[in-house]
Amino acid sequence: MKKILASLMLCMAALTPAMAAEPATGSFEAGKGTFLLNGEPYVVKAAELHYPRIPEPYWDQRIKQCKALGMNTVCLYVFWNSHEPREGQFDFTGQNDLRKFVKLCQENDMKVILRPGPYVCAEWEMGGLPWWLLKKKDIRLRENDPYFLERVDKFQKAVAGQVGDLTVANGGPIIMVQVENEYGSYGIDKEYVGNIRDMLRRNFGDKVTLFQCDWSSNFLNNGLDDLFWTMNFGTGANIDQQFAKLKQVRPDSPLMCSEFWSGWFDKWGANHETRPAADMIAGIDEMLSKGISFSLYMTHGGTNWGHWAGANSPGFAPDVTSYDYDAPISESGQLTPKYHALRKTLAKYYDGKKLPAIPASIKAVTVPEFTLTEVAPLFANLPEPKEDAELKTMEEYDQGFGSILYRTTLPALAAGSTLTVSDAHDFAQVFVDDKYIGKLDRRLGEKELTLPAVKEGARLDIFVEAMGRINFGRAIKDFKGIVGEVTVTEPRGKHNFTCKLKDWKVYNIEDTYDTYTAIGEFMPTGAFTPGADGRLPRGVYRGTFKVNKVGDTFLDFSTWGKGLVYVNGHPMGRIWEIGPQQTLYMPGCWLKKGENEILVFDILGPRDTKVAGLREPLLDNLLVTKPLTHRLEGQTLDLGGLKPALTGSFKGGNGWQEASLPKPVRGRYIALEAVDAVDGGDNAAIAEFYVVNDKGQRLVREPWTVVYADSEDVDGVNRSADKMFDLQESTYWSTVKGTPFPHVVVIDLGSVQNVGAIQYLPRMEAEVPGAIRNYRLYVSEKTFNIK
Ligand code: GLA
Repeated sequence: MKKILASLMLCMAALTPAMAAEPATGSFEAGKGTFLLNGEPYVVKAAELHYPRIPEPYWDQRIKQCKALGMNTVCLYVFWNSHEPREGQFDFTGQNDLRKFVKLCQENDMKVILRPGPYVCAEWEMGGLPWWLLKKKDIRLRENDPYFLERVDKFQKAVAGQVGDLTVANGGPIIMVQVENEYGSYGIDKEYVGNIRDMLRRNFGDKVTLFQCDWSSNFLNNGLDDLFWTMNFGTGANIDQQFAKLKQVRPDSPLMCSEFWSGWFDKWGANHETRPAADMIAGIDEMLSKGISFSLYMTHGGTNWGHWAGANSPGFAPDVTSYDYDAPISESGQLTPKYHALRKTLAKYYDGKKLPAIPASIKAVTVPEFTLTEVAPLFANLPEPKEDAELKTMEEYDQGFGSILYRTTLPALAAGSTLTVSDAHDFAQVFVDDKYIGKLDRRLGEKELTLPAVKEGARLDIFVEAMGRINFGRAIKDFKGIVGEVTVTEPRGKHNFTCKLKDWKVYNIEDTYDTYTAIGEFMPTGAFTPGADGRLPRGVYRGTFKVNKVGDTFLDFSTWGKGLVYVNGHPMGRIWEIGPQQTLYMPGCWLKKGENEILVFDILGPRDTKVAGLREPLLDNLLVTKPLTHRLEGQTLDLGGLKPALTGSFKGGNGWQEASLPKPVRGRYIALEAVDAVDGGDNAAIAEFYVVNDKGQRLVREPWTVVYADSEDVDGVNRSADKMFDLQESTYWSTVKGTPFPHVVVIDLGSVQNVGAIQYLPRMEAEVPGAIRNYRLYVSEKTFNIK
């Protein structure tokens, strides 16, 4: 008996600490002016981390880094497409082990905010939606499409099956669950948002606090009465102004910025993005001094492994592999000066206690330069083709990712004929009888190439590489491959002869490790000499490298073209010679002591097959030949003699302003001429800009292009004029300091429209730099006089 009692007591002793740390049931709710955790006032200090972007063996260390920073919560997205790669096949293992991650947060005494979408944005492929949804061609994404809702429900059930028992009410760490994501930047549809809410209620129970996040300018559009509302905005923003409207409509609501952007993401062919640490720290200090909760997006960004990076829109701006984000914890988990400075500030708000110790960092190593010694050239190793009279997209071939080659024959054509591909998603290379003709880069809006004279029956190859699907705005329904048609046009005197090409052979090259290893015959790279362009053949390159001491490193691909990299079977990500990213983060946990295998599918061909493992990343090495500005050297715009359609002056301060034309004017081109600034300085800046038609509707901005801007600040930053319509209120067009007024931007609306009014959003900072005072607007059916 004594024995039994003793072992019972032992059991109880083992149980007690765990039970004391976390009550069996708890509560989290939005009280009057504050959150309440188990009835006590609580300020959420959340670190945004995305577990699939961090190597699983490093999860615990990264969570501890956030805790040591002074955070009390981890905010995370659940990426639907990484959990359900094929319809009905769920994966919650390894990098996708959501439950393990949430449990690790709990073990580290961190609360969790769960954001299961279904759409998440996040610069992630298709904003987290699975590509296979597009197999239903007419699907209405993020709307009340019955098939879409049915699949969302199944996904959310699966998520709840993993972590539904880990809500605070069940004694777990999950304090809140987010409904959809910034729906205001997509549309107005309360019924749809309500459906997502109801699904979450069904799957997570009625005790969990549900919330929405949006921008201060649009949160009312879809705000549901029974949900908690939070605002998203970036460092530097005027915080009082961001919450002003919410305070008016819900005076008792606790305040939370659920995405306070620490930095920003990088796009191929654009400058590396950074944001000042001082602005971030001032913002957090201000919020905490006012008892405002926040999530720091990103506290640690991590990596878009493999093909998971998304692309931004309007336009097409694919994101790079690194998601460093200029966050306090770098892509590879190194603590930056931003981290240490922020930690000092957060220490002030730690209830007088000492911050937890910083965990040991993971050591970086160098790997001496090595070369990839084998290649399987692409065109000598094509898979079995399919045959189709008409063109089909990648999705119609049940292919989600990778490349696709479309092959057909041409009619006889005179020199100077034009090939039109509308559209190739995303990077096409065209060959006639094996000769390279040119490329069509969707980023640059390229659709046409001039062909040499060809004989009837010449072989046309269009090799299309898919990049990430668009993750933002209405363009997320982003099919890959060729999405329209291909025509050739031959000039014949006064008339052109146009013919649509048919009868295709189609070669699908799905992006998987198995595809590349099984592609065909590998030969020594030494058997090939570089072509006139200095490149070795397009194809799959293979090699091995030795590691003596395992550690984190950065593989340098500066001499390679464009493609995808695998190391020891792990998908490491995309490379592209244009930069700004030139290295890929190679976590030591995926390396082995001794020999490691590397595989590169290079769709352009490398100039040299060498790679070295560096100790520091190269994220800021842009090698583009096309200027980032919209004005050629010496070019000027002459508006002389034209009558403005509208003359007016904006008032100072933050927030949207609208001005109507005395009467609507038809036109395709608009010139907005800023005459002077509110602060009397020389700088003009515009965060967002809309044209409203005669019916009061905002024009769709997808077809817009900047024709001309007198001055654009692109010196190490991305403040070109297209930022006026990039659907991001925190990025902006800015002129170069020292360039005098007037400043002018010309936009091509894509087609003739009725211009009834303009809407203008200045910068978000309290001091509103570059706020425009007097302006003139010109509208014209023809382009302006640019010389
Ligand atoms: C929004 C989205 C996030 C992310 C950021 C930009 O706030 O909600 O998913 O895309 O923008 O990094």
